[in-house]
Amino acid sequence: MIAGASGLIGQALCASYRYGGHTVCRLVRREAEKPDERSWDPERPDPELVDGCDILVNLAGSPLNGRWTAARKNAIRASRIGTAAALAGMVAGATKPPRVFLSASGIRWYGIDRGDEELTEASEPGPYDGLLPTVAQDWEKAAGDGVVHLRLGLVLSRKGGLLERMLPLFKLGLGGRFGTGREYWSHVSLADAVGAIRFLAMLPGAAGAYNVTAPEPVRNRDFATALGRALRRPAAVSLPYAVLRPVLGEVADEVFGGLRVVPHRLTEAGFGFRHPDVDTAIRAALTDG
Ligand SMILES: NC(=O)c1ccc[n+]([C@@H]2O[C@H](COP(=O)([O-])OP(=O)(O)OC[C@H]3O[C@@H](n4cnc5c(N)ncnc54)[C@H](OP(=O)(O)O)[C@@H]3O)[C@@H](O)[C@H]2O)c1
Repeated sequence: MIAGASGLIGQALCASYRYGGHTVCRLVRREAEKPDERSWDPERPDPELVDGCDILVNLAGSPLNGRWTAARKNAIRASRIGTAAALAGMVAGATKPPRVFLSASGIRWYGIDRGDEELTEASEPGPYDGLLPTVAQDWEKAAGDGVVHLRLGLVLSRKGGLLERMLPLFKLGLGGRFGTGREYWSHVSLADAVGAIRFLAMLPGAAGAYNVTAPEPVRNRDFATALGRALRRPAAVSLPYAVLRPVLGEVADEVFGGLRVVPHRLTEAGFGFRHPDVDTAIRAALTDG
């Protein structure tokens, strides 16, 4: 059962499970229209909805793009923290609860900028400051203990997320590093994000935080070079904050810092990445989705 199933990761996860012959049920915030949908209201959580399902995955969250007005900030927080809390309550109240509950989180749990420090699941949280770090930390608390927290990095896809918004500039040959270019970007291909969720759902005893990022994070300037190479376009421009702010919205304020996150627990558990390095991950994003 998947909440946030219509999003970038949710759609790919549904498709992957269906392809594998599994039955997927989507929690939708409107009238259910198809046999695989169940209508729910995160403000009125009903434990019966998750009764008897094997795996529950929470991928809900209102988008981060656009202007972060006070109302938007509230929506960004409530759609993540409120939804996680609602699902946790449903799991606790179910007669036959799901075997495993996996709930999205993000690498901003580690803060906005940690320089070159290698961040594993054993690292300290970032300062409780800024929208994304505070949301990520509260999101995990709301989902609760005994849950798998998916600390997702930058998911690469031409169909959504940051890469989709960067692509037009890079295709015009106007792409390049952000700011100094020294900051680490911890990316993951969409296929590996989906693969990691499925792997963790079947990993005996999986619980707590897992970094869902590729094992080889790169500096932003190397990411830009790799993207330019894949598109066969020059990517030598330095994109200052003033240019990126209108393109990316206020999210630019909190993605300029570097986080060098490594998937220590996933690797230790034996997860095999299909796209461990930036070149294969970008190629997959540009071809597969
Ligand atoms: N993509 C990334 O790079 C990345 C990185 C770190 C963390 N994450 C987190 O992982 C989760 C999934 O990412 P994604 O890229 O698939 O997100 P997405 O494409 O923006 O989809 C999120 C889904 O959340 C649901 N949603 C939207 N507004 C909502 C609201 N106000 N209240 C409750 N649910 C709402 C929608 O699904 P329904 O209409 O079906 O309910 C939407 O399709 C998100 O929480 C995101 O913040 C993503």
